[in-house]
Amino acid sequence: MKRLATFIIFSLLAHNLWAKTVIVQSPDKQITLTISDNNKTPSYQISFANKPIISSSKLGLSFQKTSSLGPDFTIKNTHRDASKSTWQLPWGERKSVLDEHNELLVEFAADRKAANHFSVRFRVFNDGVGFRYEVPKQTGLNSKHINITNELTEFAVYKPQQATAWWIPARGWNRYEYIYNTSKFAAIDHVQTPFTFKVKSGVHVSIHEAALTDYASMTLDQRRPGVLKADLTPWSDGILVKTHANFKTPWRTIQISKNAVGLLNSDLILNLNEPNQLGDVSWVKPQKYVGIWWGMHIRENTWGSGQKHGATTTETKRYIDFAAKYGFGGVLVEGWNIGWDGDWFNNGDLFNFTKSFADFDLKAVTDYGKAKGVKLIGHHETSGNVTNYHNQMDDAFSLYEKNGVSLVKTGYVADGGNIKRIDQQGIVRKEWHDGQFMVNEYLHSVTEAAKHHISINTHEPIKATGLRRTYPNWIAREGARGQEFNAWGTPPNPPEHTTILPFTRMLAGPMDFTPGIFNMGFNGLGDKTNRPQTTLAKQLALYVVLYSPIQMAADLPRNYEANLPAFQFIRDVPTDWQQSKAIAGEVGDYVVFARQDRHSDDWYLGGLTDENARNLTIPLDFLDKNKHYQAQIYRDGDKAEWKNNPYDLVIEHKEVNSTDILSLRLATSGGVAIRFKAL
Ligand code: NOJ
Ligand code: CA
Repeated sequence: MKRLATFIIFSLLAHNLWAKTVIVQSPDKQITLTISDNNKTPSYQISFANKPIISSSKLGLSFQKTSSLGPDFTIKNTHRDASKSTWQLPWGERKSVLDEHNELLVEFAADRKAANHFSVRFRVFNDGVGFRYEVPKQTGLNSKHINITNELTEFAVYKPQQATAWWIPARGWNRYEYIYNTSKFAAIDHVQTPFTFKVKSGVHVSIHEAALTDYASMTLDQRRPGVLKADLTPWSDGILVKTHANFKTPWRTIQISKNAVGLLNSDLILNLNEPNQLGDVSWVKPQKYVGIWWGMHIRENTWGSGQKHGATTTETKRYIDFAAKYGFGGVLVEGWNIGWDGDWFNNGDLFNFTKSFADFDLKAVTDYGKAKGVKLIGHHETSGNVTNYHNQMDDAFSLYEKNGVSLVKTGYVADGGNIKRIDQQGIVRKEWHDGQFMVNEYLHSVTEAAKHHISINTHEPIKATGLRRTYPNWIAREGARGQEFNAWGTPPNPPEHTTILPFTRMLAGPMDFTPGIFNMGFNGLGDKTNRPQTTLAKQLALYVVLYSPIQMAADLPRNYEANLPAFQFIRDVPTDWQQSKAIAGEVGDYVVFARQDRHSDDWYLGGLTDENARNLTIPLDFLDKNKHYQAQIYRDGDKAEWKNNPYDLVIEHKEVNSTDILSLRLATSGGVAIRFKAL
């Protein structure tokens, strides 16, 4: 505090005697946020445990038809507030979420006639900071059509030369589906969020946003070294955001923790979203599923019609039988509808969401499923032709609802910047997946689906920003390289991929990664391009590590039936949790999670490592002190290693309690999965 106070006094003297500075701290006083109007430039800075993290960073917005909010503004007024409450997630990593923060609303004003005032609302939690712009209706900003042409928000990282960052590029053709880079700041250009970095002291920081609605997604562009500027994804006409008088932006978020693991236990993004707007959502059901899916990715089947067509009535019934026998709630069927024949990637206009191929009978399979207690999981691939989808959406959801389908996977396969929109004049426009148009379109599909009591799992999505709190039927999404890249990606996901995901992509929310490939050698284990680069134990660990309320058992039924003992873990593992605790990990090296089932006293643990084998020592102090458990351990065998011996798996059972400490050895790209069955 002393150092900070000296710093503030010094800056007052050095720059501008009249500058105003206001401070707000986190409830535990570890985070200090300082807002200033030094040099008539609204700015903020952040320190953690008395050490600077974010240096003075500018705030502001620019418009097409009026002067910018930001430059020439000074602090006019401030309001303080504090709040401590808990609220409940209908499904999630934990049932009860604590929202404890201090709030500071800062009103900025400029000495001019028009566009002369705005506010920034700051909330400081123990796990980070969120802030949003609030721009009231006023002269110069009173129209129904206000175009934002620049967001001036900066995140100036303190001493960037000493930091390490984990990132994927922004505005690329492959959307969010890139291999993560680990680098110094000097190698960073333009990145997606969550953008995670570690400073010299070991403090970890992740920049993202919360409650992204009716606005463009924020990416980060490194200008001067360490100065990341908000770069909003534009519309096809170059405008960044089309809004209206009296608007608010999404929250800009900065999660901060003394170590890597702390980031994983943060609820900041959810806390900055609005409460559930859908009322009773008991129809939203976490579940595990299988599907007619992997067969297409490894080219045993096709989405299109013909000899190898996957989505036939017969094949679907076979999957329903398998699901019923082993306790899965749903069967995903892709390639059932007209539009898949020919070049489906480029022919999105041909997709029809109510007409099936001749060899697929929707009513017959859903009736068959009903009798066996298994639901069909629907699929709508749009190939990025969103107008074609938009126009059919109501009919498409009605048809599924009529047939008892309550979960639909959607897909927006198209290169970044190549979403096809037909405007009101009938002109074709090409949009980004993360521009404002698509932000609204994705949410439209979710709210339309809700009217039919259908949950949505979006592939090629907009990134998650915590909207599952407000719309709990937005149950999962992709938004990173998933398992499918191991079937055909070049290169496939490297061993470290799933040790970086939890600290980056997963901070945003659940991911439909689709774990559980048992046959790594569909092209031969030696194939360097197409195979999961993991051990079998690591495939099991993914169910606990990569949180999602829906989890697929992605492999073919025959590969599970060939290894029923290992499959037992997938059958047992829940997808809805009473509580979750990240207990160890370093970004890009390894990670361990413990989670307690929401519907029993059982706990589960998942741990996994990168290309390095390692020993883990895990105190079981998360277990209930008064209970005994049978630990059902699925671990790498002594000879396991991902390249040539991925299947060496040991399954062992032993009695444990909360005072025990487990010593575990993880193989190269290995893992461990444990069920602690309460006795
Ligand atoms: C990409 C999705 O991620 C994948 O799961 C799906 O099978 C294909 N698109 C086809 O829709
Ligand atoms: Ca994909």
